[in-house]
Amino acid sequence: MRSVGLTIAALALAAVSVGAQTLDTSLYQLNILPNNYIVQYNDASGGGGGLDQFAAEMQAAGIPFTITKNFTLLLKGASIQVDDKHVDSMASFNNVNATWPLRLTSLSHDGAGGDKATPLPPLKMLAHDYTGVGRLRSEKKLTGKGVKIGIIDSGLDYKHRAFGGCFKTAGCRITHGYDFVGDQFDGHNTPVPDDDPMDTCNGHGTHVAGIAAGNDGVFQGVAPDATLGIYRVMGCNGLASTTVILEAMERAFADGMDILSISLGTPSGWSEYPESRMVSALYGFGKYVVTGVGNDGADTLWAVSSPASGAESIAVGAVDLPNFYSQSLNVTVGKTVTVVKRSGQQRDLAPLKLVNVPFVRAVATSGGDDYACGPINAAKGAVVLAQRGNCALQDKAVNALNAGAAALAIYNNESGDSGLVFYDQAINLPSFSILKVDGEALIAQLAKGSATASVDTRVSTFSNGKDGPTRAWYSSWGPSVNGDVKPDLLAPGTNIYSTLPTNQGEYGLQSGTSMATPYVSGTVALLIESKRAASVDSLYNLLFNTCTLLWNRPSRTESVALQGNGFLNAYNAVTTDFTVSRYYNVASKYVSDLSKLISKTMYFDNMGSKDMTYNFEFIPSLSVSAYDKDNVMVSPPRTSLVTLYARFMLDTITFKAGNTGTKNSVSFDTTPIRENDLMVHSGYVNMYPKAGTPGYNLTIPYLGYAFRQAAIPILAPSYSGINLPCLVQYGVGMPLKNGKVFTFTGNDYPTVIFRIQIPVYRVRVRIAKAATPTNIHATVTENHFLYLQKNMDSGDVQPYYTYVWDGVVYSYAQPSKLFNLASGQYVMLLEFYPTSSGDSPATYTTPMFEVKR
Ligand SMILES: *[C@@H]1O[C@H](CO)[C@@H](O)[C@H](O)[C@H]1NC(C)=O
Ligand SMILES: *[C@@H]1O[C@H](CO)[C@@H](O)[C@H](O)[C@H]1NC(C)=O
Ligand SMILES: *[C@@H]1O[C@H](CO)[C@@H](O)[C@H](O)[C@H]1NC(C)=O
Ligand SMILES: *[C@@H]1O[C@H](CO)[C@@H](O)[C@H](O)[C@H]1NC(C)=O
Ligand SMILES: *[C@@H]1O[C@H](CO)[C@@H](O)[C@H](O)[C@H]1NC(C)=O
Repeated sequence: MRSVGLTIAALALAAVSVGAQTLDTSLYQLNILPNNYIVQYNDASGGGGGLDQFAAEMQAAGIPFTITKNFTLLLKGASIQVDDKHVDSMASFNNVNATWPLRLTSLSHDGAGGDKATPLPPLKMLAHDYTGVGRLRSEKKLTGKGVKIGIIDSGLDYKHRAFGGCFKTAGCRITHGYDFVGDQFDGHNTPVPDDDPMDTCNGHGTHVAGIAAGNDGVFQGVAPDATLGIYRVMGCNGLASTTVILEAMERAFADGMDILSISLGTPSGWSEYPESRMVSALYGFGKYVVTGVGNDGADTLWAVSSPASGAESIAVGAVDLPNFYSQSLNVTVGKTVTVVKRSGQQRDLAPLKLVNVPFVRAVATSGGDDYACGPINAAKGAVVLAQRGNCALQDKAVNALNAGAAALAIYNNESGDSGLVFYDQAINLPSFSILKVDGEALIAQLAKGSATASVDTRVSTFSNGKDGPTRAWYSSWGPSVNGDVKPDLLAPGTNIYSTLPTNQGEYGLQSGTSMATPYVSGTVALLIESKRAASVDSLYNLLFNTCTLLWNRPSRTESVALQGNGFLNAYNAVTTDFTVSRYYNVASKYVSDLSKLISKTMYFDNMGSKDMTYNFEFIPSLSVSAYDKDNVMVSPPRTSLVTLYARFMLDTITFKAGNTGTKNSVSFDTTPIRENDLMVHSGYVNMYPKAGTPGYNLTIPYLGYAFRQAAIPILAPSYSGINLPCLVQYGVGMPLKNGKVFTFTGNDYPTVIFRIQIPVYRVRVRIAKAATPTNIHATVTENHFLYLQKNMDSGDVQPYYTYVWDGVVYSYAQPSKLFNLASGQYVMLLEFYPTSSGDSPATYTTPMFEVKR
C-alpha cells in the first residue's frame, strides 16, 4: 500500500494510463495523511514549555487545531489536526522543535486473508539449526524467561495453544496488551480502542509473536518462556498511522517492556521521524527496539523503512535458508507425478485445496511463447505453467488471473532453483516454483496428453540447494540517507513456519523482514537472560560483532549496505564476553578531501576472565551503486570491485581480562573514492583469535559514500516516454501546455508529476503570476512534503510522485491566513531540496495555467 489520497482524496479516480501518452494520477500520491501532524515541543532547556506555550502560540496566530493525542513519556508533543497550510506557521514557533506530517505505515506484506482453513500441525522451527538458537536451547537452557517482549503489530490470537490460551490472567505469559485501533481502522478513520488485542482478521501479529515466543511443546519460537505485551496498531487491513505507533511505543515503555519488536514501517531511507526520536529515547532508558528494514529490495539503496532507519534501532533484514517447509503440488501426466514446491505470498500459503484440476501451459494469444508476459489462452480453474523471464512476475500473475487460472507455476529459465515466486501482495494467486529440468519434462509430457494437478495438503521440507543462508531478494538495502549502517544484521525471513490465528489454520508460512524481526527480538531476550548485568551498548555489540558475513563469491563479501554486520549468530553472541566498537561511518555524504586517510579509534571491552589475543585483518566487500554509468537509476545495484582499504596500527593485540578502553586505531584509505561515481564503499575489520587462543571472529563493518549532488540530477527527465516533471489535470494525466483553465471542481485540479532519483529532504511549492514568473505571489507549502524516498520503477515500487494542488495558498506576510487563489494566470514553482543544509534545489516551473473560480 503506497498510494494514499492526499489533498482531495474523495475525487473520482480516472482510468489507468494508456500507452505512453498519459500517467495515472490516482497512483503514487505522497504517503501522507492530509491535515494531521505530530508536533514535538521544545523542552524547557530549549526555551520552550510544552503544551501550554504551544497552545498559546497557536491561539495568538489564530490557528485552529485539535489535539488527538498527547505524548509525554518518550517525546514531548502531540498528534494534532490542523489545516496543512498552517504547518509553515507552526514550524516557525519558538516552542516547536519539529513537525512531521502523519504517514500511513503498512506491514511488510498483507495478512492471511482470514479464510477458514484446515489446521496445519505444529512443526519445529528449522531456523534454529542455522542461527545457534537450537544449540543455546540444548546447551544453555535459555528460554527468555523473565524477559518482556512488547510486540507492536496486528494483535495476537492468544487463545492459540502456543500462547497458553490466556490473556493477562494469573500465571499467563501475556501480561500486557491493548488494542489502539479496532478492526475497522484503515489508517484514515478514527481509531476505536479497547482492552483486547485479539488478532482474528489479519494474522500477521500472531505469526510474528510465534516466532519470538510461541510455545506449544513442538513448535517453539526463539524465546519460548518470554513474557509478552501485545500492542495492536492495525485493523484488519494492515494499515497503521504514525500516531498509533507512537502511542503503542509509549505504552509498551510504561508497561516495562525490555524489548519492542516492530515488524512494520514506512519506506523512506531517512531517519528524521518521530518514531526514531522515540527509539533514541528508549535506547537512553536501556530498552531495545528491534525493527524490520522492509521488503523493498527492488528499490536498491536507501530503501530502509522507518523506524528501522533510526540510528539506535536494531534494524533487521532477511535471509533465505537452505531448508524450508512448504506445501507441494503434484502434477500427474499419465503415470508420471512431478512434485513441486509451493511458494509465494503468505496469503497464497494459506492451505490451498486443488484436486485434479487441469494443468496447462501458458500460451500467448499472440502466438508462441510461454512467458505469460501478455494475454494467454483461457485456463479456467487450471494451474498455468509459465516460464520465468522477460517481464515481472506480477505481470505473469495478472495475465494468468485474467485467463481464469487457479494458480501459477513458474519454471526456471536457467539451471538451479529460482527461489520462491513472490509477487505483489495485491495479486491473489497461489504460485509454485519449478526447476528448469522439471518444467521442460512437463512440457514434453504435455505435448503428448493432458495433465492434472493436485495440492498435497501436507507440509514437507524442501531444499533450495544452497549450503547456507543467502540474501533474500526482497530485503531492503541501506544505508540510511545520512550514512548509518542499516540493516544492522540479517535473520531468517523466508517461508517461516509459525503460528496463525486458529481460524486461519493455526500454523502457516509467511515471508518478509517482518518475520526476521521477531527472530532477533527473541534472540535479544536470550541475551538479556544470560547477561543481566551487561549494558545496552554491550549487548548491541555482542549481537552485531558476532554475526557471520555473507559472501558474494569469490573475492568479496556482500555490501555492508545489504547485510550490515551479517547473519545472526545467537550462540556466539551469548557465549562471548568480548566486544568492540559497533561500526564506522567513514565518509558520509560530503567528502571534500578525498586524498587523506581517515583514522578511527577502536574501543574494546573484555568482560570475561581470560586474556584475549586477536589478529586484525581487513575484508573487502562489494561496492554498490544505485545508478548506472550514465547516472540512471538501476535495480539491482551496479557493483564494482573498487576497495575502501582499512589499515591497522597494530596487527595483533592481547586484551587483558576485565579491561576496557581503546587499544588500536584503524585508518581508512578513501583515495579510491571518486565523487562522481556515487558508489557505496564498505568493508569489514575482522578480528580473529590468534591460533591456539580462545574466542570467536568478531567483525566490524565500515561504510562510506561519496556523493556530489551535481553528479546525479535530482529530477529524472522522463518516465515511460513522458517528459518530467509535468503538469497534468487530475484524473486525466496527459502533459499540458500553456493555457489550461482549472476550475477546482470535479476532477479539474492542477497536478504535478515528478520523479526523483535521489532522496529529497523537502519539496517547496509556490505560485507566481504568469506575467512575472520570478516574483513569488503566494505559497502553497514549505514544510508539508519532507523526507521523500527516491522513486524506482521496478515491481510495485513507486516510479513517480503525484502532487495534486487544491488551490489554497497563503502569503508570507500572514502565513496563518489561508485563501483560495483568485482567478488569473499563474505558474507553479517547485523546489526540491536534497538536504537540510542549504544545498541548491532542483527547480521546476509549470506551464502557465489559468484559475477560473
Ligand atoms: C529538539 O529535539 C531533539 C531530539 O529530541 C533534541 O535533541 C533537541 O535538544 C531539541 N531542541 C530543543 C531546542 O529542545
Ligand atoms: C492533552 O493534554 C491536555 C492538557 O493536559 C488536556 O487538556 C487534553 O484533554 C489532552 N488531550 C488528549 C486528547 O488527551
Ligand atoms: C531468467 O529470467 C531472469 C528474470 O527475468 C533474468 O534476469 C535472467 O537473465 C533470465 N535468464 C536467462 C538465461 O534468460
Ligand atoms: C503427491 O505425491 C506424493 C509423492 O508421490 C504422494 O506421497 C502424495 O500422496 C501425493 N499427494 C497428492 C494429493 O496427490
Ligand atoms: C575467522 O577469520 C579467519 C581469518 O580470516 C578465517 O580463516 C576463519 O575461517 C574465520 N572463522 C570463521 C568461523 O569464520
